[in-house]
This record gives sequence, C-alpha cells and structure tokens, in this order.
Amino acid sequence: MKRIFSGVQPTGNLHLGNYLGAIRNWVRLQADFDDCLFCVVDLHAITVWQEPDALRANTRETAAAMIAAGVDSARNIIFNQSQVTAHAELAWIFNCVARLGWLERMTQFKEKAGKDKARASVGLYAYPNLMAADILAYKGTHVPVGEDQKQHLELARDIAAKFNHDYGTEFFPIVEPLIFGAATRVMSLKDGAKKMSKSDPSDNSRINMTDSIDDIAKKIRKARTDPEPLPGDIKGLEDRPEAANLVGIYAALEDTTADEVLERFDGEGFGAFKPALADLAVEKLSPIQDEMRRLMDAPDHIDQVLRTGAEKAAALAAPVMAEVQELVGFLKP
Ligand code: TYM
Repeated sequence: MKRIFSGVQPTGNLHLGNYLGAIRNWVRLQADFDDCLFCVVDLHAITVWQEPDALRANTRETAAAMIAAGVDSARNIIFNQSQVTAHAELAWIFNCVARLGWLERMTQFKEKAGKDKARASVGLYAYPNLMAADILAYKGTHVPVGEDQKQHLELARDIAAKFNHDYGTEFFPIVEPLIFGAATRVMSLKDGAKKMSKSDPSDNSRINMTDSIDDIAKKIRKARTDPEPLPGDIKGLEDRPEAANLVGIYAALEDTTADEVLERFDGEGFGAFKPALADLAVEKLSPIQDEMRRLMDAPDHIDQVLRTGAEKAAALAAPVMAEVQELVGFLKP
C-alpha cells in the first residue's frame, strides 16, 4: 500500500519555498495516490513560542493555502495535528526508540537553537521523533517535502528500522522522501547562501503567500543579484547562487527546467529578467491568493474541513496504534 503524509508548520509567513518545494507537489501527487494526508503541524509549531491567537489564525491560514493551491479536501485528508492524539502518543514511544546521538546530528536543531542550546525547548530537540510519528502513525510510505527535510526523513527511516528490529517485526514501512521539481530548495532573496525561511527577520528575503501584487514585484526588483548577464545554460550559474535561485524560481513557476529558461534569456541582464519573473509570479500566485482570501473569510468552513479530516485521520491511526501498543507490551485498555 502506498500512502502519502506531509505537513507544514503554522508559524506564519507561509512562503514561495513552501509552495514550490512542497504544497504544489502535493497537488500533483494526489492523483496518483489513494490515501494522502496533509497536516497542519501545530504540535511542531509550539516547539518555539507561538502566541495562542496567532497560532489559531496561522493554522487556518495554512489549511486555506493548501486548499487554495489545489489540494482536494474531499479526496484527501487535511487536518491539524493536535486533533489526533496518535501523533503525541507514538512520538513518546519514538522518544524511547531514537538515540540521543542521532538527534545530536540534526542540523535544523543546531540552526534553530542557535548558540544558547540550553535555552531551547526539549520539544525542539525531540522534533524529528514527532515528525517520524506523524508519518508512521498512518504507516505512511511516501513523503513529499523540500530538500531541507531530507535529514529528518532519514531519521524517520532509522527509527522505523530500529523499532522493527527491537520488537522483531516488519511493522513499520521505511519511508521514501519525494523531493522533486525545479525549486526543492528556494533560497533567500537577500542571500543566496541562506534558504528562504518563515523565520528570517527580513520580510524582503521571502515572498509570502499573502503578499500583495505590488510587494511581490517590489521584492523581486530588490532581490540581490550580480551585474553579469544570464548565461545560456545552468553550468554558467555555478558560483552565482542568487542568479541561480531566481532562475530556479522562474523555472518552477513555469513548470520547466532552468536550462530552458536560460536558453530564452541567454545574454539578458536582470533589468529584463526581473520584471518577467515578477509578472510570472503574480500570474501564478494571485489566483491562489484570491482563493485563500475567500476561504479565510469563511473560517467555519476551514474548521469543518479540519474536523472532518481529523476524524478520518484518527480512524486510520487507530488500528496502527492498537498494534503498536500490542507490540510494545502495553495492556489493552
Ligand atoms: P516547514 O513548515 O518548515 O515547511 C513546509 C514544507 O516546505 C518545504 N520548504 C521549502 N522547500 C523549498 N525551499 C524552501 N526554502 C523551503 N522551506 C520550506 C519544507 O521542506 C516542507 O516540505 N518538519 C516539517 C513539517 C513536518 C513534516 C512532517 C513534513 C512535520 N511533520 C511529516 C513531512 C512529514 C517542517 O518544518 O516544514
């Protein structure tokens, strides 16, 4: 059986990287998989402080973005993580399976915790175990994500393998990451060495899904580049990370390859390329934004989608959790 699971944190500032690296790929995959679960991971969000009202609003906004981008809420399961208790329950069991040494290698924790590790929450450290639980509570097999989640998915594979080994079973599948498209790692518009991120203090570093048309155009106009004209193929963009990023974004938005884009813009400067990119971004994003606004005006509908999704998700997780409890040796309730 093939089953997709993926998630987005409702931490605000949902951006073009989240769309091109993940959500858009979900829309494509939903046709090929019978079961797809798309989760607003609010338990993950609180590993760093979230204002409760902002968390509620961001949870709805993230769900609205998924639906507006084309995730079919009738065919698939869209829900928020905290409504299904299996996530937290299985995460605890995985806290006892994963080894401290494995978590110590996680680069995202190092980046997020910064220099003062002692002040980071325990949840932030154990975050990848919860992520493994998200997927495996449904015996998810395929996980479409951006490049930055690769290491976490390797850990999910290690956890599944260790659980299977320790309990002498083949119970959990070994998950397959699905990382594809021309923009698996969208970089900051201000620094080609940093990924585009919800938490970057500079709003000009990212294109938010809620940015106005004017802001999108302005941010692209102000994006860092270099004075060279564009080359005829991708090899010419080695050592030009900002230029490569903008070309990658263009290719992803147009659903083509960077080489195809460069063939067209060969020899052009950014004075010509940036307005073309801004037009393309607006053309592709504004229908999604209109739909997001429409959905956000009807929060009851979003809440209903999330509730229905949570009921379906809980029904899928229940037999998995019953078997996990049996394997681990917990008495039946
Ligand atoms: P999050 O909320 O940081 O990001 C959501 C998705 O967007 C992708 N992404 C990017 N892709 C390309 N370029 C970027 N600059 C960029 N930034 C983010 C991420 O790779 C992700 O696919 N831990 C996850 C959420 C999660 C999850 C899961 C994912 C929790 N449980 C289970 C898959 C399966 C996260 O923080 O994503």
